[in-house]
Amino acid sequence: MILFKEIAPLQKWLYQAKNEQKKTGFVPTMGFLHEGHISLIEQSRHETDITACSIFVNPTQFNDPGDFEKYPVALEKDIYLLEKHHTDILFLPSVHEIYPSGSHSSIHYNLGYLENILEGFYRPGHFQGVCQVVDRLLAIMKPHTMWLGQKDYQQYMVIKKMAEDYHPDVTIKTGNTLREANGLAMSSRNMRLTRDAREKAGAIYRALLFIKKNIHVVEIPELKMRASDMIMHSGFAKIDYIEICNSSTLHPVTHVDNDTTLIALAAAFIEGVRLIDNMQLV
Ligand code: PAF
Repeated sequence: MILFKEIAPLQKWLYQAKNEQKKTGFVPTMGFLHEGHISLIEQSRHETDITACSIFVNPTQFNDPGDFEKYPVALEKDIYLLEKHHTDILFLPSVHEIYPSGSHSSIHYNLGYLENILEGFYRPGHFQGVCQVVDRLLAIMKPHTMWLGQKDYQQYMVIKKMAEDYHPDVTIKTGNTLREANGLAMSSRNMRLTRDAREKAGAIYRALLFIKKNIHVVEIPELKMRASDMIMHSGFAKIDYIEICNSSTLHPVTHVDNDTTLIALAAAFIEGVRLIDNMQLV
């Protein structure tokens, strides 16, 4: 694996690869890698000639500065994992390399209603920050394909919208959410939980599964209430949302019809850690 900290030599290398007709797959991350990230690396390796990963903890997407401070870092382990899985390139830029004129963005990405619902409602400014960094990373890497995790479904939709406007040539794909034995979606945040909370946190998955099993049997408002109860009774302190939405638009739905594919999404706090998850329903 070749590690680049600076843009100029990275782009020289990528330019040469492109000249040799090689396709680059790109997996952007904030580090503290887990099996979910590695499965994206594996998919990229399977489908493209060169696989590049970036590790950059982007300060502009943290609406809660405390969350940024607490963001876990494990660079040596990340490098070990990436090498073990035959990643070709790791881009490890400094904040200055990504934001040479400061991190204030002059662009306001037009994300429509996606910006202010669900995650956007509870994390104001978050998706502008995500788009700012992904826009910059795509401009640097110019990949053929970029892979994102399905766990952050709304992020995937938001980035797809931004990329349609600014990087129409990039194909964006998602990889399935990987789960721990109790169903908890893998996330770098899980390491902030005690063993007990990590066990209890499987309740989000069980609640989503409950929704999926009963979507044709129980009315949607009742389903959401019962799923919330399952989560709260398992030891969560607070639920930001449990919503059932049209999976193409993320508009909340109030009834099931045969023409609409649905997704259930949830965000809840346990031990002060905010966890999100989702499940395709029908
Ligand atoms: O999902 C993440 O890890 C981040 O939001 C991303 C896409 C790498 C942008 O910083």
